[in-house]
Amino acid sequence: MDTITFARGNPAHECIPVEELADCARAAIERDGTTVLSYGPVGGYGPLREWIAERHGVDPSRVLVTNGSLQGMVFLAERFAGGCVLVEAPTYDRSLKILASHGVETTPVSMDGEGLELDALEQALRSGEKPAFLYTIPTFQNPSGRTLSVDRRHRLVELAREHDLLVLEDDPYGLVRYEGEPPPTLFELEGGERVIYSSSFSKTIAPGLRVGYFVLPEGLERELEALAVSTYITPVLLGQATVFEFLRRGNFEPNLERVRSLLGARRDAMLEALERELPGASWSRPEGGYFIWLELPEGTDTTALAGVAGKTGVAYVPGPDFGGEPNTARLAFSFVSLDEIREGVRRLAALVPVSV
Ligand SMILES: Cc1ncc(COP(=O)(O)O)c(C=O)c1O
Repeated sequence: MDTITFARGNPAHECIPVEELADCARAAIERDGTTVLSYGPVGGYGPLREWIAERHGVDPSRVLVTNGSLQGMVFLAERFAGGCVLVEAPTYDRSLKILASHGVETTPVSMDGEGLELDALEQALRSGEKPAFLYTIPTFQNPSGRTLSVDRRHRLVELAREHDLLVLEDDPYGLVRYEGEPPPTLFELEGGERVIYSSSFSKTIAPGLRVGYFVLPEGLERELEALAVSTYITPVLLGQATVFEFLRRGNFEPNLERVRSLLGARRDAMLEALERELPGASWSRPEGGYFIWLELPEGTDTTALAGVAGKTGVAYVPGPDFGGEPNTARLAFSFVSLDEIREGVRRLAALVPVSV
């Protein structure tokens, strides 16, 4: 039996505009080949850097385009090595691993259905050592799918000002919205003095291009550039120029609409299947992104259950891998087909000890 995987936070293959990207890559080389195929500016391919800068209303010198946004996370972890970072509980496991591997200590701050709990954040800010920064994924969070409410966004910005707190807003999913109004980003509310904004074309165009970016305060941008130079001299300009060509042709918005419709249908199918198959459990209902956070009845051990689930042909990531409670799990609906979602949830439900 083939395993149905809810474990992979990848876009379904049909989301990736292969033909158009092939054409964009060729056009990028034909138009600007010697630049794109040489060592170049460490901050990224000039025209793309300018496009991003304009979108966020900053000078291009504050934009660092990296080989995926995770690469930027590595630079930030290197810069603050040995320090302490506040993180959401749960949060993205790869970021946790990167921070840990650079000797950065993490202090978890609890979340509820509206995102980060700001009383808990305030308490952490008052009681602990001054953190190097707060790492937050406020929109369609990985792993929980939760979104920080607008009120809390305002209050978080106030707290950042009050405590001179640097905030990293990791926002790869914000544009992958299936319904509802987008809230302002923390970066927009704060003005970009204390909020670093990071995003990526992984979820809006294709992850294999490895094009992500950080918008940084000026001094920090120079420091991270220095780390980037000594890591790879130049990021992958061909990937960046391919993205730029895609944008230049006006393909971005139509592609995003297509991705929203493909993935929105998957989100709906998973919510419906959960409703049908798993009474007795609860889950997040995200308006976008890739993930649903499942909370099984108290006492269920999703880590132990994952092994059994694998044998019966369904995979997920246990919540504790992200710093979540033992009865939680992350279900990614982004990679699988509608039929696989229905069948996978059915297989999962058959394993869960209690349904009322
Ligand atoms: C919250 C979050 N940040 C960063 C990334 C990585 O993005 P990139 O592909 O740009 O490295 C992901 C990918 O899944 C993610 O979920």
